[in-house]
Amino acid sequence: MYKSMILFLCKWLEKIHEHSGTALSNFRQQLYFMDYEDRDSDIYVVTYVKSGTTWVQVILYNLLFDGNMEFEHIYDVSPWPKYESANNGSPERVNHLPSPRIIKSHDKYDFFNADNKAKFIYVYREGKDVAVSLYHHNKNYRDPELTFDKNFEEYYITPDPLINWFEFTNAWLENKNNFNVLYISYEQLKNNYEVTVRKIADFVDVELTDEILERVKKHSSFEYMKQHEKKFGEKPPVQAQLVYNEFIRKGMTGEGNTYLNPEQKKLYDDKFTEYIQLYLKKIE
Ligand code: A3P
Repeated sequence: MYKSMILFLCKWLEKIHEHSGTALSNFRQQLYFMDYEDRDSDIYVVTYVKSGTTWVQVILYNLLFDGNMEFEHIYDVSPWPKYESANNGSPERVNHLPSPRIIKSHDKYDFFNADNKAKFIYVYREGKDVAVSLYHHNKNYRDPELTFDKNFEEYYITPDPLINWFEFTNAWLENKNNFNVLYISYEQLKNNYEVTVRKIADFVDVELTDEILERVKKHSSFEYMKQHEKKFGEKPPVQAQLVYNEFIRKGMTGEGNTYLNPEQKKLYDDKFTEYIQLYLKKIE
């Protein structure tokens, strides 16, 4: 009871004090995670944003459950607790989902306790392509005036380790706590789909029958997901002029090479050598 009163108060204060919004929203998240129940059987799909998270959520859901796609939104069957904590305020529904839960996360490595026993599927995507996808996402969903260069500076190579692609990716690839992580990549899913789905199935202990493989293929195809965009995209918040039907956008590899200018490419290559190169073996 006292928590719902605090949550109500936070929402109310956010409305009247725009500047204290972030602090209050963090506080609400902390309240959410106080009641959130971890399970050893949880399967986290962890990515830097725009790396194929939703694609892998759909694959997992079709591997582990009956593949009934009648849910309104993928978060109904594969939740994103951080999103819920910022919006709904109560982990009740997620705490009651059947095991194994398929949980979306864009959290940085240190968010998880060192003794976490869950399974993690880390989806790596080529960094320049991530920069392009992220640019379109932010332009469509947040700021129609956004330029690629501004997005590259402010979101992608910012000093904030939660948002800086190199630091975020580096920590997950390093895996200093030895979490149980399966590393796959967006490119492997594009170029070697069936082998990669088999890797995922093995990791989550599913025997991949022809019937299961067929439904995984059908429901996780780009065409199917594009056609049912509303089930997967970010839920539209407020500003009507923004675009909300581009969450499943192009699904291509290599786009980054045409967007980054020579200076950005040089910066990417240098940082790649410093932060990522060493760990690439893990994704092979
Ligand atoms: P693009 O913007 O490059 O098209 P996330 O789910 O992590 O936000 O990732 C979104 C990216 O994955 C988008 O990339 C989206 O189009 C792509 N994507 C989603 N479903 C896909 C699928 N079935 N096949 C290929 N790409 C897919």
